[in-house]
Amino acid sequence: MSLIAYVNGGFVPLEKAYVHIEDRGFQFADGVYEVIACYNGQFLELKAHLERLVRSCQAIRVPLPATQDELESLIRETYTRNKLDDAMLYVQVTRGVAPRIHAPAKELRPSLIITARELPAPDDEKLLNGASAITLSDIRWQRCDIKSIALLASVMGKQEAMSRGAYEAFWLAEDGHVLEGSSTNAFAVINDVLVTHPLDCHVLGGITRDIVLRIAAANDIEVCERPWKLDEQGLSECMISSTTHAVLPIVRIDDKPIGDGAPGPVTGRLRKLVLAEISVLTSA
Ligand code: PDD
Repeated sequence: MSLIAYVNGGFVPLEKAYVHIEDRGFQFADGVYEVIACYNGQFLELKAHLERLVRSCQAIRVPLPATQDELESLIRETYTRNKLDDAMLYVQVTRGVAPRIHAPAKELRPSLIITARELPAPDDEKLLNGASAITLSDIRWQRCDIKSIALLASVMGKQEAMSRGAYEAFWLAEDGHVLEGSSTNAFAVINDVLVTHPLDCHVLGGITRDIVLRIAAANDIEVCERPWKLDEQGLSECMISSTTHAVLPIVRIDDKPIGDGAPGPVTGRLRKLVLAEISVLTSA
């Protein structure tokens, strides 16, 4: 059976889900998006995702294509129509269709598309042994807090990571501190403190990042949001977080082991705690 997509007012089979070639999302990457997990019909932090979508739309001055309540019911309906158990919902809002002129006309009608796919299963091998990352100078723009569909730099980062046999690319600021992964937030354990870059325009405020920090603090894991570097004394573990990974250990960076090169105890404990919290948040 075909997957079903929502496109600008109607539900259609995915093979027939099209937008116009002059959609500004296609021509200018003039849009924003969300990726939301749904476990057995229960969405994880749907409100937080919708609020971030609203903030992204406001930041680029695109009117919301529907009210927050309407968006929520369209997302729920897309999930239901696709008859999936654990799903990943993709929501994209662009400025709409117009002749290709940079300056956006005021009266444009934003485009809204929603798709659903099976939530990718965690990679057992990577959970057990950890994954590897490379570091790259941050070539992205200055508003990484907006969840923009302009992801060319992220694609290039992932491509470079793959070509070097690694899983993720960590963006480094000019002074060498770690900002985030190409599609994940990055954390380190330094002298038993969980450290991650503070929220500013150089990182995306990940919904999973919020869960990780909240759960760590609630379980007596000290947390510090500050810039950090890979060569800091006492750095023993690294990990990434995102909607599609929850928490994943990173055990090698630029071909050097982190700690003893195996997933560390804080990462393991946090992953368990975060999965337990996800179960609570998505229980009926
Ligand atoms: N990526 N940082 C970046 C640059 C991201 O693209 C993402 C998410 C995150 C984690 O955010 P969250 O915890 O809200 O998923 C951090 C999504 C999953 C993607 O582009 O597919």
